[in-house]
Amino acid sequence: MNNRPSFEKIDYTIRPAKCIERKMIGEMIGSLRAFQPINEYVYIGLGSTFFTDFVLYHKMFGIHDMFSIEKEETKRQRIEFNIPFECIKVQYGETTDVLSRLNWQSPSIVWMDYDKGIDYRKQDDIIFLSQNLQSSSLLMVTVRTENTDFDKRKSPPNLDVRLESLRDSLHNKIPDLTKYEVGDLGKAIQIIFTAAISEALAQANSGKPEVEKINFHQVEALMVGKDVTLTIQQHNNCTPEKLQPLFDKAYELYVKYEVETS
Ligand SMILES: C[S@@+](CC[C@H](N)C(=O)[O-])C[C@H]1O[C@@H](n2cnc3c(N)ncnc32)[C@H](O)[C@@H]1O
Repeated sequence: MNNRPSFEKIDYTIRPAKCIERKMIGEMIGSLRAFQPINEYVYIGLGSTFFTDFVLYHKMFGIHDMFSIEKEETKRQRIEFNIPFECIKVQYGETTDVLSRLNWQSPSIVWMDYDKGIDYRKQDDIIFLSQNLQSSSLLMVTVRTENTDFDKRKSPPNLDVRLESLRDSLHNKIPDLTKYEVGDLGKAIQIIFTAAISEALAQANSGKPEVEKINFHQVEALMVGKDVTLTIQQHNNCTPEKLQPLFDKAYELYVKYEVETS
């Protein structure tokens, strides 16, 4: 029973935390209009069986170039039946395999709304996306922070045990966490994501002339039950004035939704 796809156990359409998350991300996407009309962005996400995020952002912003990635290929018939708009194309397979098949020539809004904790394949996705997203793209990653793979009959493991398990699932590819104040797993994941993005971009930038180098701004890491890291990718043409609305919006959202930030 435990191997059932997540969408057969959880109805993402009505889950309150997911609804708030979607709404917040929608509001954040709105401030991308400082860069270009939002309907010219490509949206890439994990729409699951109901495409609720896709429907919302298509209706809110008229985005019409949309790709949903889904690993549960055996559910293809049900998924195809549910596709709400023709502009949504579903690509079947694990994100790690599908991402490299997509076209990354246009600025994109990417929401990797994973249903489990972080592992080395998700870290590879983040590295791939950091190196391939165009200027003014927005990358969001949601992963489960509380690790539920422990024996529920015993008392919950402490942070050190959880960090050890995180280290294993990332094949040891994590920065030296002793340099940071890691109060919880969410914070550790945020540090690991940020380090992965910085390192990926440093590699991509090496040898490039200054004007072609790409950089990123982390808008914030929001904690809404799960960990959402909002990151904006920039080239030199992305000025502080264009970025400011995103930061202002993030602040507004914390107040509005009483979000715990880290
Ligand atoms: C949390 S749900 C997405 C919910 C959706 N974003 C929404 O707003 O309603 C995650 C979906 O992505 C699929 N999925 C999770 N991890 C994946 C991966 N690494 N590659 C491909 N599909 C994945 C799951 O099967 C599930 O259908």
